[in-house]
Amino acid sequence: MKQVRLKNKILFSLCVCCVISCNETNNKKQGSITSTVVDLGSVVTNLPDGPGYATFQNNCVSCHSARYVQMQPNLTEKTWTALVTKMKKTFGAPIPDSSVKEIVQYLVTIRGKG
Ligand code: HEC
Repeated sequence: MKQVRLKNKILFSLCVCCVISCNETNNKKQGSITSTVVDLGSVVTNLPDGPGYATFQNNCVSCHSARYVQMQPNLTEKTWTALVTKMKKTFGAPIPDSSVKEIVQYLVTIRGKG
């Protein structure tokens, strides 16, 4: 009986030690949190507003900025359609089929050819 009590005491002490040491390591971790400010600068794009602009904004700037479009030369409707299809099929852009035409029209308006 005495031995059992002693065992319990030892177990209890071990537990207390564990809890205390856990707390200590937690405190150390908390103490080491620092914050860093990273200046990402800003990307200025000046794509004009117009019919389809909102749809373009909703579907085309989640993965990269509108700068990608701004850097393109004037392209034909066929090429823009192929590009939007590539964003959708190859890169997995969740663009509804019903929005593709509107986006292409917008792109042709601002960067169209022919
Ligand atoms: C799911 C993410 C995603 C979405 C949404 C998306 N793109 Fe892209 N886009 C990419 C990737 C990935 C690339 C290739 C980047 C590279 O090659 O560095 C790219 C490249 C481009 C390029 C550069 C030319 C090229 O052929 O690589 C243009 C222009 C472009 N996207 C326009 C658009 C337009 C317009 C939309 C909306 C219809 C759109 N993107 C939506 C992922 C996306």
